[in-house]
Amino acid sequence: MTQPLKPLPYGRQTIDDEDVAAVLGALRGDWLTQGPTVGRFEEALADRCGAPYCVAVSSGTAALHLSSMVAGVRPATGGVTSDITFAASANGLLYCGGTAALADVDGATALTTTETLRAAAGALDAAGVPVRALVPVDYAGSVVDLPGIAALGREVGARVIEDAAHSLGATYSHEGRVYRAGSCEHSDFAILSFHPVKHITTIEGGAILTRDEGAYRELIELRSHGITRDPARMSKNDGPWYYEQVALGYHYRIGDVACALGLSQLARLDRFLELRRAIVARYNAAIGGGPLAAVLEPLAVPAGVRSAYHLYVVRLKRRDGERTPEVATRRRHLHAALRDSGILAQVHYVPVHHHPVHRDAPRAGLLDRAEDHYARCLSLPLYPTLGDEDVDRVIETLERTLL
Ligand SMILES: Cc1ncc(COP(=O)(O)O)c(C=O)c1O
Repeated sequence: MTQPLKPLPYGRQTIDDEDVAAVLGALRGDWLTQGPTVGRFEEALADRCGAPYCVAVSSGTAALHLSSMVAGVRPATGGVTSDITFAASANGLLYCGGTAALADVDGATALTTTETLRAAAGALDAAGVPVRALVPVDYAGSVVDLPGIAALGREVGARVIEDAAHSLGATYSHEGRVYRAGSCEHSDFAILSFHPVKHITTIEGGAILTRDEGAYRELIELRSHGITRDPARMSKNDGPWYYEQVALGYHYRIGDVACALGLSQLARLDRFLELRRAIVARYNAAIGGGPLAAVLEPLAVPAGVRSAYHLYVVRLKRRDGERTPEVATRRRHLHAALRDSGILAQVHYVPVHHHPVHRDAPRAGLLDRAEDHYARCLSLPLYPTLGDEDVDRVIETLERTLL
């Protein structure tokens, strides 16, 4: 009897005995939730990303919500994010009562650019909505043009929130210097996600990085109901038990057990990145350089960026004169053929404006490069434990299906 083929998801966590020991240690310790490991994880993240302040929270989505709040997004104001992202990037703005405008992407990288963000900010402005936040997304692990976007933020009076959910460990260069994703050297905030398919996991979790001490203090309060024990923030002080709720915050805390896992994972981030990059090199050699190059193209990485490769995205090349519905049909068939061989490719992303909730989002123009990307893209399996034989199986299946 032939063995069923091992399913290959597009992404998955990498958990080893050290992670299990770290979690068990935390479970047996004194603190399950608000203990010292949360702070240790925050310090390690701040150190790794090169930003002075870090607030760990319950998800990347919570991180987007709180940073949008602190950026000043309120009803009758708004922000701009990419049309090619997980909807959470836009939802953070909506949770604050603001409007989320959607920006088109660059045709080669599927990243928003200063120009596409400017155009979408212009659409908000034309509707009389002040722009408080720009939320560019480091899609697939490449970093957006943060220096250009920071300049745009200053010009339009908006704060920049780098959605770095895909780019932990990536770098970019600017004027001869190398910077880290999440360092906030060209942004006001950066957010991370530790969902299991990301570079490191806390099962569910996220973080906000910043260089702004005042914003950091606000974030700490907002993460836990808006409660403070700081005498300078309270209207009175009844005793050592006393605290006050001084803002309408949320329960967005992450606990010690999750952070113990996060710390253990973070210690192996370099190894995870190395393994991801080796897999990408193997894919690129076959897809960028072999017969598949006639029909597929790997997503481009901008010059000066070292991607952290959260996703390995390929796109079907259009045939001469081929229209969008036709190439979308071929992509559907390719997705099905891979699935029939146990290869669980995924589409990243359904453009945000396709979701009924975001259908009326302000935008400039037709978002046609986002539509083009959506019609042609597919994320192939990419995670540290994917073996060479697994990658070869994916490549052979692509060749059998497409050539
Ligand atoms: C680009 C991007 N931003 C934000 C998020 C939200 O992160 P979380 O799932 O941790 O809430 C995700 C999650 O998948 C994401 O891909």
